Order: sequence, then C-alpha cells, then structure tokens
Amino acid sequence: MSDALLHDALAGLTAIPKTLPGKYLWDETGSDLFDQICHSADYYPTAQETALLPRAAAEVARTVEPGVTVVEFGSGASRKIRTLLDALPEPAAYVAIDISGAYLEAAIRRLAPDYPGIAMVPVCADYSKPVALPVQAGPGGILGFYPGTSIGNFDPTEAGLFLERARATLGPSLFLVGADGTTDPERLHRAYGAADGLMAAFHRNILIRLNRECGADFDCDNFRHEIRLLSDPFRVEAHLVATQPGTYRLGGQTIEVAASESIRTDTSHKYTAEAFQALARAAGWQPRALWQAEGGSFNLHLLQAEA
Ligand SMILES: C[S@@+](CC[C@H](N)C(=O)[O-])C[C@H]1O[C@@H](n2cnc3c(N)ncnc32)[C@H](O)[C@@H]1O
Repeated sequence: MSDALLHDALAGLTAIPKTLPGKYLWDETGSDLFDQICHSADYYPTAQETALLPRAAAEVARTVEPGVTVVEFGSGASRKIRTLLDALPEPAAYVAIDISGAYLEAAIRRLAPDYPGIAMVPVCADYSKPVALPVQAGPGGILGFYPGTSIGNFDPTEAGLFLERARATLGPSLFLVGADGTTDPERLHRAYGAADGLMAAFHRNILIRLNRECGADFDCDNFRHEIRLLSDPFRVEAHLVATQPGTYRLGGQTIEVAASESIRTDTSHKYTAEAFQALARAAGWQPRALWQAEGGSFNLHLLQAEA
C-alpha cells in the first residue's frame, strides 16, 4: 500500500489545487475514528440508514432464496450487516471487502462468533479497481450491500464506473445501496465539519499516515479542517487548510504549501433518489425498491442486475 500511497500523494500534492485521494483516509486509526463519528449525534447518515435497514432487510428476505452470499463493499466495523444477516433466510457466506486490512480482520473476528453457520470471507481490496469474488455464489445467489453513503465519495462519473464494476463482481444479483440526499447546509456543517470534533482528527490523520508510512514531515498543527458546500454537482468537500506557509519533504521531493492553501482530502456527493436511479440504470441496474428517510434526505435503494 505504501508505494501506491506515496505515488498518489506525490501526484496530488504537486498538482494545483492540491488533493489527496480519500481512500487513504482509511488506515486502522482512520477506520476507528470513523466508527466513533458514526456514534456522534451530528453524523446523521448512520442514524438514518440504520433506521431504514430493518424494513429493507425484511423485504429483501422475502425476495431471496435460502443460502444467499452477501457481499459488502466498504464493510468498516461490520455493524449494519448484522441487520441483514439476522433477517435473511440462512445466509451462506458474508464477503466483506475493505481497504483497511487490519481493521477489517478485527471486525470479522468480532462478528464471526455470533454467526457460526455463515462463512466469513474478509477481502482486503481497493474497490476503485475491479474486485474478483474469492467464493462461488451460494445456492440463494448473491446480494450486494454498499451502505454508509460511500458511493458519494466518487464523483458521478466514477460512481457510474463503480456501479458497472460492482455489476461485474456480483453477476446476477440484488444490490442494496445507501445514498445520501441531504442538502440542508446547517445539517451538513454539523455532520461533516464537527461530528463532536472528530472530523478534524479523521482528516488530519492522512498527514500522520504520510509521515509514518512514507517518511514525510508534515506538521499537522499547521493545518485546520474546513468543509465547503459546492454545487453542480452538489457536494461537500473536506479540506485541510494551511494556517501558515510550510516546506515539507515527501518521497525525496519538496512540497511547498502557501499560507491559506488547501489540500482537498475527501468529497461527498449528494443524490436525489431520481438522480441515483438514473445513474444505476445507466450502469446496468434496475431500481426495484426504495426506502426513504425524511422525504429523501437519505435513500436506501434496492437494485437488480439487468439480465
Ligand atoms: C463511510 S465508511 C462506511 C463503513 C460502513 N459500511 C458503514 O456503513 O458504517 C467507508 C468504508 O469503505 C472503506 N473504503 C473506502 N474506500 C475504499 C476503497 N477504495 N476500497 C475498499 N474499501 C474502501 C473504508 O475503509 C470504510 O470502512
């Protein structure tokens, strides 16, 4: 991972404007901080999606045959999957795909004892590239699961490509995907700017990671976390903004950061239900059902792969 991290970080930090790919936020510390964020009352997406899941799980359970293999993209702490595994008729296997390897293994070690009849298959992989399943589909077929509104971290073109890759990975399947539709600025500022003060630590951790894994010398205290709401397409961007000019070393190169210059560390695109369904259709998925929180501020979509 460090070679790719160094390569991508150098490309992003020598570009104008400066960026770091959001997928590198996710080491063990980043995953742990995010799990704490999910427990913050400010971070509404977790509460909204968690409230919708039991109804969705009951409906999916009526649709699939016994022995389904459930494949989760970006499984993190593997908490939401419990609602599905509890509802589905005798699931055969749970394939958990995540880029944060050590955290993934620990999450599966915690989950496995509660589901002794289900094969647990952790897959440490980057789903921004093609991922092959290491197991055959169970007798009940395949159910994909992509919660956490992570689809929003791709721009719309990349999100479409992700949905196409997921179609190839999952084959004939159903796919349950959570997509945030919130546009209320106050709510977004609380969730992405504050979340009990944890968001700043979550984003600064990417610099700590570059220092530890790539021998960089960023002074994290010289950066403050800021979020920006932008339109066309509507999105929330997270930035680390330099509070003073700095000269840093990374991979034998010099990175100059001017005072007030920012490094974009993540983006979260928001989708109306209709916009997401259009994206899914274009990628070969038919919308089958939709569960909505507060008139569309969060949407949980059930998609079916087109034959
Ligand atoms: C927003 S969290 C969602 C976690 C959990 N599914 C939930 O809903 O609470 C995103 C998860 O996706 C993983 N992730 C992010 N980018 C990834 C990538 N390119 N490939 C694989 N996993 C990724 C992160 O490690 C993290 O666990």
